[in-house]
Amino acid sequence: MTTRQLQDEIVRLKREKGVCILAHAYMDPDITEVADYVGDSFGLSQKAAEAKEQTVLMCGVRFMAETCKMLCPDKKVILSSPGAGCPMAAGLDREELEALKEGYPGYTVVAYINTTADLKRAVDVCVTSSSAVKIVRRIENDKILFVPDQNLGAYLKEQIPEKEIALYPGGCPTHYRITAKEIEAAKKAHPKAKLLMHPECSPKIQKYADYLGSTTGIMDYALNHDDEEYLIATENSIVKHLQLKCPEKRFFAASKDCVCHNMKLTTLTDVYHCVLGDGGEVIELDDETLREARRCIDEMLRFG
Ligand code: 13P
Ligand code: SF4
Repeated sequence: MTTRQLQDEIVRLKREKGVCILAHAYMDPDITEVADYVGDSFGLSQKAAEAKEQTVLMCGVRFMAETCKMLCPDKKVILSSPGAGCPMAAGLDREELEALKEGYPGYTVVAYINTTADLKRAVDVCVTSSSAVKIVRRIENDKILFVPDQNLGAYLKEQIPEKEIALYPGGCPTHYRITAKEIEAAKKAHPKAKLLMHPECSPKIQKYADYLGSTTGIMDYALNHDDEEYLIATENSIVKHLQLKCPEKRFFAASKDCVCHNMKLTTLTDVYHCVLGDGGEVIELDDETLREARRCIDEMLRFG
């Protein structure tokens, strides 16, 4: 079977069986082409809740499927590849956070959406990379404990110096791989290119960025500016997507190593088996987790 034939079969099956396919933008184009919505972590969950279909297939990693389940608990939510986790989310569990909180009495606990549903039970407000600055500014308390991404946290501290923001030393191993040396070399090779970067990157390289923002922010910037060349400092699938969307512009990866192996676990064949009904993992969250974890998501929606 060719890629095109498999894609056609997936589209036929998803319509027949009433499955809404959501794909994070870090998925490869063969998968995003069959998706009903492609976007960043938060946009995907919002679409899951809006979808008319009763079954949602999340092509991404586990915390994204859990967030979908929290936002639409009555729907059947399937994670495309059961092994696809996020090392940053797995790096901090609820027990550790509860212990950490004891050292920060009176602080509002803010967590990046890239965390487990179980950890979210111990969090006051959740944020995404696109909403973090706006939401943390709006929180009345000037003392914030931000977990788990210390790089996004460093960006928050820089943007909101008037608040006292305590950080946990977690982060995304994928974005950490981009080095200052690579950025300098890439800028030298493409001197006219605008450097678009995700705030999950280290502060050591954030200072080189012409634009810092979420996956959607980076894509919108490139689509809406007239510059002809862009260096992309985030997961390298974004280079492919942008190049397909804007063939008249040129896009270059800032590093060959910024590849998320968890996102890459999902194949088009996995998507086929999921819509067929014999693949993926149906996400189940108990009532207590659904109720308690949902609170920080509701707070995010209220602030956002
Ligand atoms: P966004 O999709 O929120 O930009 O985050 C990037 C990421 O690393 C997702 O896992
Ligand atoms: Fe997690 Fe980073 Fe992969 Fe996103 S890119 S899923 S934050 S490891």
